[in-house]
Amino acid sequence: MLKLLSGEILKKKTECLVVPVCEDESIYDDPAINALIENARKIKEFKGKTDDSVILYDSAESKSERILFIGLGKLEKIDAETLRSFAGKTVKQLIKKDLTEIVLCAPSPEKLELKDGVVLSAIFEGAFLGNHIFDKYKKDKTAKPLNVVSVFTDSKIAKSCRLLPSRIEIICKGTILAREWVSMPSNEKRPDRFVRSMVKAAEKEDLSFSVLDEKALKQNGMGAILAVGVGSRSKPRLLILDYNPFKNKKSSKKKKTIVLVGKGVTFDTGGISLKPSAGLAEMKMDMSGAASVAATLITLARLKHKFRVVGVLPVVENMPSGNATRPGDIIKSYSGKTIEIGNTDAEGRLILADAMSYANKMFKPEVMIDMATLTGACVVALGEKIAGVFANDDQLAKDIVASGESVDERCWAMPMPDDYKTLLKSEFADINNMSNTRYGGAITAALFLSEFVEDTRWAHIDIAGPAYSKKGGDYCGAGGSGFGVRLLIDFLNKM
Ligand code: BES
Ligand code: ZN
Ligand code: ZN
Repeated sequence: MLKLLSGEILKKKTECLVVPVCEDESIYDDPAINALIENARKIKEFKGKTDDSVILYDSAESKSERILFIGLGKLEKIDAETLRSFAGKTVKQLIKKDLTEIVLCAPSPEKLELKDGVVLSAIFEGAFLGNHIFDKYKKDKTAKPLNVVSVFTDSKIAKSCRLLPSRIEIICKGTILAREWVSMPSNEKRPDRFVRSMVKAAEKEDLSFSVLDEKALKQNGMGAILAVGVGSRSKPRLLILDYNPFKNKKSSKKKKTIVLVGKGVTFDTGGISLKPSAGLAEMKMDMSGAASVAATLITLARLKHKFRVVGVLPVVENMPSGNATRPGDIIKSYSGKTIEIGNTDAEGRLILADAMSYANKMFKPEVMIDMATLTGACVVALGEKIAGVFANDDQLAKDIVASGESVDERCWAMPMPDDYKTLLKSEFADINNMSNTRYGGAITAALFLSEFVEDTRWAHIDIAGPAYSKKGGDYCGAGGSGFGVRLLIDFLNKM
C-alpha cells in the first residue's frame, strides 16, 4: 500500500527511513533531513554518486530503526525516471532484508525543477512496481513484498497531492495485471482461458463485454482471424470490452468513443512458416498488446474515466498442424479484401486487420489505437526499450510520444511512406501479408494495417521490443513489463 506522510521526519517510527541524496547539493528544504545527510557525508565512501549507499543503525536523533542513504548522482541529471529507478531499486533491495514497511523521503520538487505531482508520482510508481514479485509458479517463495511504502514530503505538498497515492496504486495495479498475463505460460492461457481470465477481471469492474467464439467469427466472415487460429486445437475468440460511463444516462449528444485494439496471440510458433527454436519460449509474450489493452480498460473503470473507451481483442494461438493455413493460401478478411498469406508468421497483422475493420464498423471511433508485438524488425530498429509509433495523423503520433516521455514508456514516431505500399502487392489477391523485401519490416507491417482503418484517425504502437524483458529492470522483474498501460492511461487522460 502507498501512503503520503508529512510532519516531523525524526519522529517517524519505521523499519527503514530512506534518504535519496544528490551528489553536488542539497535537494531538501527540511533542515532535519539536511542534518541527517550532513552526518552521512562524513562517511568517506559516501559521496551521493549514483548508487552510492550507506546504512546507519540506531541513530540517536531519529526514531527509525535504520536510515539508508542512496546517491542519485548529479543534480542536472536527476529527472522523474531517476526517481522511479531509485524507488524501484530501493524497494527490491529492502525486500531482500525481510522488511515490511519503509519511508522514502521525497526531494523538494522546486530544487529538481519538477512539478510536485511529478516527483511524488515517480517515487510512488517506482516503489509500487518494484514491489511486485512474480513467483506464482515457485514452491519456495523466497521474498515477500513490502506491506506499506510511505513517502515523506512537506505538509503543503502532501495536502495538495493527497489523492495521488490511491490513483498511482490503481494505475500500477493495471501494469502488474498486464505483466502477470504476459509472464503466464502459454499452456495456461490458451485463447478460451485467456479470454475467460480477462472477462473475469472485467466483470469485477463496471465493464460490459461480449465474446465472439469460432461460430460467431464464421458467421461474421472474419476470415483473417480464423485463418490464424485454424491450426490450433484452441479456437480463436474476439473479445470486446466496453467501458462506457454514459451507459445508463439518456443523452442525445454524441459522445466521443476511443477504440483500443490489442494483439492477442497466446503463443506464436510462426505456424507452417515455423520460427527457429532459439528464443521460441519468449513467444508466450505475443499477447502483450491484448494484455495491456484489457488492463487499461479495467484501470479506466477503476479511475472512473470520463469518456467511453472500447477494447477490441482478437485472441488466437498460432500453431502448425495438419489443419493449419499454408503460405500461398488466399483468405477473405472481414473488410471484404482478400489476402494472400506470404508468411504464416506474419499473423499479428491478420488478426488486427479483422479486429480493426470490425471496430470501425461497430463503434465509429474518433480515434483508434492498436498495440501489438508486431515485428522483430521494430526491435532491430529501436532496440528493446522503445516502441515504434505509426499514425495517419501527425498530432496523434506526437501526443503518444509525449505521453510515452512523461511515463517513461518511450515511443518513437516512424514513417509510413505511401510508395512502400507496392511492397505488399500480391499477384493473386488484393494484398499480401508479407513484404517482398526483407527491409523495413516494421513499416510494411504498419502499412498493411493502414489498409484496414479507412479514414479513422489511427495509430499503431509496435511494442515487440519493450513488452518483455528477459532480465527485468529497476522497477520491473524478468518477464512481462506491462508496457502500454501507463502510456495509454496518460494519453487518454490528456485527451
Ligand atoms: N510475434 C512476432 C514479432 C515479434 C518478434 C515479437 C520478436 C516480439 C519479439 C510476429 O508475429 C512475427 O513473427 N513477425 C515476423 C514478420 C515477418 C514474417 C514478415 C517478423 O518480425 O519476423
Ligand atoms: Zn509471427
Ligand atoms: Zn506474432
